[in-house]
Parts: sequence; C-alpha cells; structure tokens
Amino acid sequence: MHDLQRQGQRIRRHETPASVEEALALLADHGPAARAVAGGTDLLVELDRGVRDGVEVLVDLTRIPGLDRIEDGGDHLRLGGLVTHNQAVASSLVVDRALPLAQACLEIGSPALRNRATIAGNLVTASPANDTVSALWALDARVWLRSVGRERSVPVRELFAGLRQTVIEPGELLVSIEVPALGPGQRGVFVKLGQRRAQAISIVHLAAVLSFDGDGVTAASLALGSVAPTVVSADAAERYLVGRPLDAAAIAEAARLAAASVTPIDDVRATAVYRSYEIEVMVRRALTSLREERQQERWPANPVFLWGDDRGAVAPAASASHDDGTPVVCTINGAAVSAGRAAGVTLLDWLRDEVGLTGTKEGCAEGECGACTVHLDGAAVLSCLVPAARAHGSVLTTIEGLASDPTQSLHPLQQAFVDQFAVQCGFCIPGFLMSGDRLLQECPRPTRDDVALGLSGNLCRCTGYYRFYDAVEQAAGS
Ligand code: FES
Ligand code: FES
Repeated sequence: MHDLQRQGQRIRRHETPASVEEALALLADHGPAARAVAGGTDLLVELDRGVRDGVEVLVDLTRIPGLDRIEDGGDHLRLGGLVTHNQAVASSLVVDRALPLAQACLEIGSPALRNRATIAGNLVTASPANDTVSALWALDARVWLRSVGRERSVPVRELFAGLRQTVIEPGELLVSIEVPALGPGQRGVFVKLGQRRAQAISIVHLAAVLSFDGDGVTAASLALGSVAPTVVSADAAERYLVGRPLDAAAIAEAARLAAASVTPIDDVRATAVYRSYEIEVMVRRALTSLREERQQERWPANPVFLWGDDRGAVAPAASASHDDGTPVVCTINGAAVSAGRAAGVTLLDWLRDEVGLTGTKEGCAEGECGACTVHLDGAAVLSCLVPAARAHGSVLTTIEGLASDPTQSLHPLQQAFVDQFAVQCGFCIPGFLMSGDRLLQECPRPTRDDVALGLSGNLCRCTGYYRFYDAVEQAAGS
C-alpha cells in the first residue's frame, strides 16, 4: 500500500446504539474522544487525513429506528438526522414543498454515495461547498440538537462558526432538521456549477427562495456556497429585490449585486475571477427560472437510486460494541461470516484483508471512483467510506457473489461486459458491475440516460464509457 493510502487515524472502538438516549450517553461518557457517525462519507475521509484529532470512538447512529423519517408538520417538514440524500430525492414531500433541498440532494456525489450520506452530516461537516447547506440556509431551516438532559434548536444561518466549524457542542447530537415548507406564493430553486455532472465538488452553488405578491417580490433569500469560509447571503441583492417586480432589469441588477457582494478564493477548482463571473450568471438564470416558474423543469422523472428493495431504510435496531477482538458477524454472498479486526478499518479493507474477498477494489479510498462498490443490505454503497463494524448483522454482496445462479458461471451483466469488449485492465469493472446490477433491479428497461446516471459514480481510467452503457443495455435486453 502506498504511504498516501495508509489510514491516518486509528479508531479503537465502534459503538452501535439502538436509541438516541443510548447514543447521547455514549457521547457524554467518551467526551471529545467520541464522534457520532451516520453515513460516514465525510468523517471517514477526515479521519483518514488526520483532521479529527483525538477521536477514538465512533458512535454509529444508523441502527436507531425513527431517525430516518421525513414528516409532514403542516407548515414545515421535519427530517430526522439519518435522512439520506437519496431518501430526500425520493420524497414527494421534499420535492413538492422544499424543492431547492431536493435539488441540492440530487447534486451530492453519486447514487451510491447518496445511499449513505445524510443531510445532517452535510451540515455537521460545515464545508461551504456542501450543497444542501445553501438550500437549507435559503429555506430558513433550523436544526434540533440534543444532549443528555438538554434540547435546543439553532437556525442553520447561525450554525457555522467558521470554515468547517459549527456551534454544536461536545455531547450534542443533531437529531432533526426543521424545514419551513414553501407556501403558495413562494418559489425556490438550487443550481450548482461543477466540473462534471456527478462526483463534483461545487465551484459555486446557489439557492434562491422568493416570496411573491402578484409579480412583486415580498421577500428574497439568496444563499451562495463555495465562495467564502461559510455559506453566505447575498444581502444587497436580497434587499434590492424586495418591493420590486421581478423583471429583466431587476434580475440583472440583483445578479450584479450578488457577484459584487462576495470575494471568492482562487483554488484548484476555479479562479476567483471565474467564480465572480459565474455568480452573476447563475443568479440571473436562477431568478429568471423563478420568474417564469421553470424551477422544476430539470427535475428527472425517474431519479436513479441504486438502493434495491429496502429503499435505504434503517436496519433493525441492535446495540453492539466492537473493538478489534470482537467479531463482526454478518452474511456475505449468502454465507455466514464472522471475522474480527473491524473497529478501526473500512469495510473495504476488512473485506479484502480479514475476509479474503479481494474482488472489491480500492481506487481512490475517498468516495470518488466507485471501484469499491458493494451491496450493503441491498443498497449499492462505497465500501471505502463504510466503517467495517457497520456490517455487523447485515447482508452483503460483493462481486464474488454477483453470479448467484449456480447454473451460470457469470452473471448476465458480466457476460454482457465480455460480449461488448467493455473491459481493458478490469480494475474498475467490479464497481461498474455492482452498480449496473442495482440499476437493472431498480429499472429493468433503463434508458441511455438512466444507464449514464446509474454508472455516474464509477470512473474508468483506461477505456471509454459507451461500451459499459452498451453492456448494461444488452443485459437489460434492450
Ligand atoms: Fe471507494 Fe474509490 S470510491 S475506492
Ligand atoms: Fe481499466 Fe476501467 S478498464 S480502469
């Protein structure tokens, strides 16, 4: 293993509480040494890079029942702390009444990443590039935080103390997010500029929510991300819009004011000059779409999830505690497996090093390439971003178990990859097959766009993608 790929920080214990109270007690007991983990898609990378100094215990929330609910509160929606981005995308409540949030969720990573990554986690990581932050900011959402004997709520706009810093105190858990529902006179939209259509960190993102009385704007909220240490409001543009009809001149001036209101940074993704230019373009287009009521025109009729039959539901509650001596007991490819040394490693490393299943590959080890895709309780996930102990009590399928029909040596999708000459070095292929299989289960007759979306989280460095698409279409019989 290359030095750059070595894990930076060792977790010595993985706790799996079955209730919020149990989780709070664990956080209180372990103090700063404990960190709550839900999807883990940010936290595992941060731990690997040594960003979370002193964390030795993970408190895994993903077995706590009820925390993954989306509830209709009348004038607001309440999203539990375990609601994933895919759950929000699939929710008609979120799409119909908090469209910018649904749109932001669909922009996060890839389908397999969205099966694990949570909206609450996106807030807690506190990166200004996190897409849902600007949506929740513009919608004027608030979070509910619990600790032992205490509960409080904080507006999302007051949650951030600086770059990657929040006001969440040690021992506090973000248990829900309250999102005001858009009313009949309100419209909202989220737009993002990235370098590609999936797995892209924002260059700039924008959420806009306007209230109207006839043609006149009565309230405006414009939240900009990836342009400052935290998400920021375009205050001058907001003030300018209120009390005016949303005509072309007002839109142009608001866009100019928004671009002038921030001083973006130069970084590896874009220059400051380019960001400023794009802010003006994006604000103009977003406001025009709201004026013309086209904010939902790009919403896909059939989003792709890759989550199998259980739709990403929380697995049944079962408390557990793992250190290196405690075996993880689960079912892999139809066989019972019990293996230890899982406390501080990823599911990918555990599968390869402790279980001996080396078909699953490590490309990037940070959720970017999809080479490590496996099925966890039916859903495609990136095993490099799943703590190994999360597999306890779960059902997994790896590439070795894909061809489950004993009369066939290859799964029909594997055969199609062979027939279509879709393989060069083969390193990325297990991930493509695991994603393709979930796509075909979810969508037996996919369109070309469905195939492209289903495979959008999988990168190949040595061949083109058309043969992959052809292979999936062959397997679908289309
Ligand atoms: Fe897991 Fe690249 S996404 S190894
Ligand atoms: Fe070589 Fe995809 S076939 S990386």
